[in-house]
Amino acid sequence: MKIVLTGAGGQLGQQWQMWADSQTDHTLWAYNSAELDITNPESFDSILGAHEAPDVWINCAAYTHVDQAESQKDVAMRVNGEAPGAIARWCLQHHCRLVHYSTDYVFSGSQKDQSDHPEGYTEDAMTHPLNAYGESKLAGEHAIASTGILDTSNSLLLRVAWLCSPHGRNFVTTMARLATQHPEVRVVDDQTGAPAFCDDVVTQTLALLHAQASGIVHIGSAGQGTWADVADAVFDQARTRGVAHPELTLHRIPTSEYPTPAARPYFSKLSTEKFTTLTGLYPPDWRDSLNRCLADPTIWSSKNS
Ligand SMILES: NC(=O)c1ccc[n+]([C@@H]2O[C@H](COP(=O)([O-])OP(=O)(O)OC[C@H]3O[C@@H](n4cnc5c(N)ncnc54)[C@H](OP(=O)(O)O)[C@@H]3O)[C@@H](O)[C@H]2O)c1
Repeated sequence: MKIVLTGAGGQLGQQWQMWADSQTDHTLWAYNSAELDITNPESFDSILGAHEAPDVWINCAAYTHVDQAESQKDVAMRVNGEAPGAIARWCLQHHCRLVHYSTDYVFSGSQKDQSDHPEGYTEDAMTHPLNAYGESKLAGEHAIASTGILDTSNSLLLRVAWLCSPHGRNFVTTMARLATQHPEVRVVDDQTGAPAFCDDVVTQTLALLHAQASGIVHIGSAGQGTWADVADAVFDQARTRGVAHPELTLHRIPTSEYPTPAARPYFSKLSTEKFTTLTGLYPPDWRDSLNRCLADPTIWSSKNS
């Protein structure tokens, strides 16, 4: 496969580059935001025309600052809402498959939704974002859909939730750092979901490409837990490794005690049933993927600040 990767400097983009480094029969042209700005579609032809035509464009580029998006709605909308449409149009014109990542934040995450979808949101569930980031990502989904590419066999719009990896800034790297440095950590215990791990996301995306799947698909981990459950599992590992602060204590708190500029969904679980039907694969439980992630020594180094 000949692949163009945008957003190559982000946590998922880095994971794709690590995958490509271990491949001999695939070519990946990776672009970070300085090399290819997805909000500048006039540049796509000249940048991508410098090499062979790609078979797939994997777009990991996004404006992901959820709280800042409340005060930077225009920027979030340009990157997340408009640019994916331009990428989809380029892909249609160049007979290139599109892989684009979206989020559970397109859903409201309400307690009613949780009781309607106890095993997780299905792909056709009603969208209703709670915050500006979610609105911008949903606008991106609509921009892609409006090009017609979702009606072809040439696109994958993949929703993921709670993305984590041993590199980059994410909940797991933050908890690993806090576990080693702080005696008391307060974590919300009334938001439920399942962390998706970047290496699983790459594996699952490849499985869907291999299966010639198309359209909207939810991927990630099996199982459910709260953010506090994830922190608890990280802290257990820190203690086992002997790197935990000697007085490390987890305080489970309600969301109301951790106010943020952007409202957060209470329920973030995505059903992966369609993924299993398409590929025959069952996603790993989040606790197994978390333990694999925590086995990476870089996660415990002070560089993860
Ligand atoms: N993180 C999560 O918890 C989560 C959850 C659900 C879904 N997702 C989705 O998963 C995908 C990957 O997320 P991630 O966590 O890997 O994000 P990330 O680490 O924040 O990386 C996003 C990358 O996009 C780049 N970017 C921003 N604006 C750009 C532009 N105009 N042109 C080109 N590149 C640009 C950023 O570059 P600079 O840093 O140089 O700006 C950054 O390297 C995104 O679509 C995200 O919405 C993430």
